[in-house]
Amino acid sequence: MNFDQINQRHNTYSIKWDGAKAVYHNPEVIPMWIADMDFQSPQPVITAIKNQAAQGIYGYSTEPNMTSIPQIIATWLQQQNDWEIDPDNLGYSAGVVNGLGLAIRALTKENDAIITQTPLYGHFKLAVENSKRRLISNPLLYQNGKYSLDFQLLEQQIVEQHVKMAILCNPHNPTGRVWTAAELKQFAQICQQHQVIILSDDIHSDLTLPGYNYQPLAKIYPEYQDQIITFKSPSKTFNLAGLQFAYYYTTNPNYRKQMQSTAAYSSNPDLPTIFALPALAAAYQNQESHAWLMDLRKYLASNLEWLTQQIESQTAAHVIRSEATYLAWIDVSYLKCSEEKLLQALDAGGVGVQTNQEFGLDDKAGLFIRLNFATARLTLEKGIARLVKALQQLEVE
Ligand SMILES: Cc1ncc(COP(=O)(O)O)c(C=O)c1O
Repeated sequence: MNFDQINQRHNTYSIKWDGAKAVYHNPEVIPMWIADMDFQSPQPVITAIKNQAAQGIYGYSTEPNMTSIPQIIATWLQQQNDWEIDPDNLGYSAGVVNGLGLAIRALTKENDAIITQTPLYGHFKLAVENSKRRLISNPLLYQNGKYSLDFQLLEQQIVEQHVKMAILCNPHNPTGRVWTAAELKQFAQICQQHQVIILSDDIHSDLTLPGYNYQPLAKIYPEYQDQIITFKSPSKTFNLAGLQFAYYYTTNPNYRKQMQSTAAYSSNPDLPTIFALPALAAAYQNQESHAWLMDLRKYLASNLEWLTQQIESQTAAHVIRSEATYLAWIDVSYLKCSEEKLLQALDAGGVGVQTNQEFGLDDKAGLFIRLNFATARLTLEKGIARLVKALQQLEVE
């Protein structure tokens, strides 16, 4: 696969490209915001979707004879994460956020407290608050340019706020941390001690960078697995977010039943879209797709290394050393300007990124930019040149 190929995404129903005009003022902006990639999916996935499209009938879906989707997922988790699961314990949702919302509504009550780490993925806040639950923000520690979990504060907040549920993001968006086995255990032990249900959003787990080893919390801490629900999807991994498909795993049959009956109010959880199932099978089962993923990870690692070098050699910004994902988290706190001014300058300079507020940070937390680097190198080069120029101008103003 040639990741250097520049794919024209305007007028393709892409929110990242076609939707950028609703978010940024500059019509020439290079969109480096929402988390999908500018790369084509692996060829077996494209072929599977084309074949499905070509038969021309788009009725309700199910597994065809002989294809067990749960078994395909179980094999993938075994291969990728050395995690042996019982395929009967899987459920589906129309995306991870949809699944988180189901778990929140099924397993907590209105006004219950739900804790998550900040900076956060913005939809955690929406999922909690739209369900009329209270979001408790547990800031990560940020020391010497590195992020870690603040266990002491976590426990204190759980007790004081009577927290019922925790949402863990592993690997973490936006900081890129891949939590270690020791961190995961400590997190789970605290939750266990105070009977807090854990939702582990592992959507970025296939996109670790070289040298980092993602481990599923439910595998690391089986003592508490009945209170953990793990959410995964091929969407980030194989660039299939528009197919709106995710799955969750829990060894607690009551939780699965409660989530499924909550889903049944608005949709049928057992019916992923008719394109999602063939795409999933082609992504997870085909060797060519696996090879594509290996190459993708190398390409992303090299993009991150390149942009870090460029930004840090030309500005005083610090690029956090991401351990996973294709999202760079950049500390520009040295700029003594407002977030609004920063965003305006970047928008005017033609680079579409996101800043503090999107991630639940106020300006006391410093000034941060999240930049999506899953794009062809040439596009990245243009985007980073624009970013650097805008930062340099802001510094002298
Ligand atoms: C941590 C995290 N969870 C969930 C999602 C969205 O998942 P989905 O599109 O499956 O709802 C994203 C997308 O950026 C994400 O970063």
